[in-house]
Amino acid sequence: MTTKLIHIANPASVQDQELFGAAQIIREGGLVAFPTETVYGLGANALDEEAARKIYAAKGRPSDNPLIAHISSYKELEPLVERIPETGRKLAECYWPGPLTMVFPKSGIVPYGTTGGLDTVAVRMPSDPVASRLIALAGVPVAAPSANLSGRPSPTTARHVWQDMNGRIDMILDGGAVGIGVESTIVDVSGEVPTLLRPGAITVEMLHETVGRIEIDPAIQGPPAEGLRPKAPGMKYRHYAPRAEMTLVEGEGSAVVAAINRLVRKDEAQGRKVGIICTDETRDQYPQGLLRSVGIRAQEETIAHNLFAVLREFDDLAVDVIYSESFSQDHLGRAVMNRLMKAAGYKCLKVL
Ligand code: TXA
Ligand code: MG
Repeated sequence: MTTKLIHIANPASVQDQELFGAAQIIREGGLVAFPTETVYGLGANALDEEAARKIYAAKGRPSDNPLIAHISSYKELEPLVERIPETGRKLAECYWPGPLTMVFPKSGIVPYGTTGGLDTVAVRMPSDPVASRLIALAGVPVAAPSANLSGRPSPTTARHVWQDMNGRIDMILDGGAVGIGVESTIVDVSGEVPTLLRPGAITVEMLHETVGRIEIDPAIQGPPAEGLRPKAPGMKYRHYAPRAEMTLVEGEGSAVVAAINRLVRKDEAQGRKVGIICTDETRDQYPQGLLRSVGIRAQEETIAHNLFAVLREFDDLAVDVIYSESFSQDHLGRAVMNRLMKAAGYKCLKVL
């Protein structure tokens, strides 16, 4: 299959005629990758089971891992769900359009092929103008997982999508680099107490302020334990994984730097190619290793923004080992640490 690459001239004020082709592909059951404010998505008609199957095939994704249905206005939610709980309505009012996905009991029109066999459906209304306009022009809800091959870090630029999806999908819309850089927050509002299934840019602190009590799915806090199944099926896979063996080093700042330097010296002496994920604050403290700053510690949104690009870069550089500094779990830090922990397969070294 030949993959068309369409460059959007000015993503902030995208013209409808730039999206007509893409909208038609989606209506006709094809696959289009498009930017959102979180990461690039791989879109297809969410109501078409055959189109959903194509997404799983293109990504090499297990078909029990459900897809998020993307909408462009609140009124498009109603037909997809059996009911809209009060918490869901409140959260939509506060955070839609934006980087929040909510899980509702699904209606009859949403095929099990989209929900991975579940009786619930995840719905998100993105704020990115290209995403929003594309969904509106397609005239159908758009199922869209992140547009990476299964197991690779989520794509934050069209080039990342091209690396993974060229030849496997119909079209890629290039709207430049995304803003946030980590996937949306997922909250299950189908039960009595809203439950966080995946941390993202809508933080626990924000959710708490909006709805009061919020539970956190224990399965997202640590390594998958025996008998503990994450409620978001996708959270059980070793996602965001770089090809190298990665270790997250936790502890007080200067101790972390010293420990990483020791490990790098040892690995390099044994002929290994080593990558280090550091920050602008510490970048001049590592004499050895391939160094990439992930951003500015004091501005956590820069860390979220660069994280997946740095992991991909280390893949491209074919490093054998990665050591990463760690971050506080407050606010957006929770999402950053969640992705880092998963990338490291929960391999974590605590230093004093
Ligand atoms: O930011 C995002 O959410 C991006 C952009 C493209 O919108 N999409 C994204 O999709 O990250 P994906 O497929 O890579 O991750 C979706 C996650 C998976 O962990 C999946 O298991 C979970 O959402 N999920 C989807 N439907 C669900 C449901 N009905 N119940 C529980 N979890 C669900
Ligand atoms: Mg994904």
